[in-house]
Parts: sequence; structure tokens; C-alpha cells
Amino acid sequence: MYTHKHIGIDFKTVESVGQLEPHHYKLVLKAREAAWKAYAPYSKFYVGAAVELDNGEIVLGSNKENASFPAGICAERNALNYVSDHFPDQKIVRIAVTANPQEFRLIEPVSPCGVCRQVMAEYERVQKQPFEILLTAQEGEVLILNSAVDLLPFHFYLSQLKK
Ligand code: THU
Repeated sequence: MYTHKHIGIDFKTVESVGQLEPHHYKLVLKAREAAWKAYAPYSKFYVGAAVELDNGEIVLGSNKENASFPAGICAERNALNYVSDHFPDQKIVRIAVTANPQEFRLIEPVSPCGVCRQVMAEYERVQKQPFEILLTAQEGEVLILNSAVDLLPFHFYLSQLKK
């Protein structure tokens, strides 16, 4: 007999960036700042990520594209990998992600790609503490998720790799 199961996630929304609490608002502004540093001549989709750490440090990242398209990397992974190298002992408290496309106006929150979700899930597992994820656009609603794993249930992880 088949057993039916269900996975649901809790998340918050606010109608606009202006309605965020100050600590969230500040991080989103940092993500917007980061997006201006994107190198995205091919997609013209400028993405910024801002990672807040336990010690209050905020690390920025933006997407970097390449003429060899698969060599490009997303804003989220640039920021998170920088954290891993430069602040290995700090826990990630939250990450804000935004996009600033140069050829149209984005009005729905940017949604991290599958690879970034996988990477976020692993950083979260390693630090044994969930981190918040704020997803925003140039205007409109903001999504606030409680955990990276919520974004990718059934992700691949270390204990499946070795015994
Ligand atoms: N991109 C990010 O940096 N993060 C996301 O969450 C979505 C997509 C980048 C990759 C590529 O440089 C451009 O946006 C268009 O896909």
C-alpha cells in the first residue's frame, strides 16, 4: 500500500520592501547595492545577494557571467563561498537576494536557481542552524523563508554520499 505524505513550508510575505523591519530592510538595501556590481552583459539580469553573519558582518555577492555561458556563477553562491573562505567560524543568519534586470522591471521576487538552493542547503546543514532567506524584486512583494532546506526538500547531502 502506498503511504501518502505531504511537505509544506511556512513563510512570510510583506507587500513591499518599505514594510520590512529595519534589520531586514537594511539587508535588502545591501543586496540592491551588490546587484550594481554584477557582471551580466549577456542576460543583463543583475542579481545581488547580501549575507548577514552572527557577528553582524554583511557579505555581498553578485552574479558574474562569462562568454562561455556555463562558467557564469550566481550572486548567492559568490556571497556564500566568500563567507566560507573569509568567515569560516561565523554562522549565517540570513541572506537577501534581489535582481535588477536592465531591460525590464521585475515585480516578483527573484527565485534562486536549483544549484544555489542545493548550495544553500549544504551551508545550512554544515552550520546546524537554519538561516532566513529574503527574496525581493525592484518593487512588490517580499518573501521571507525560514530555512534554506525549505527551498529544496529532498536535496542531496553528505550522508547519502558516504557511509
Ligand atoms: N542568477 C543569479 O545570480 N541568482 C539567481 O537567483 C537567479 C539567476 C543569475 C545567473 C545569470 O547570470 C542571470 O542571473 C540570468 O540567469
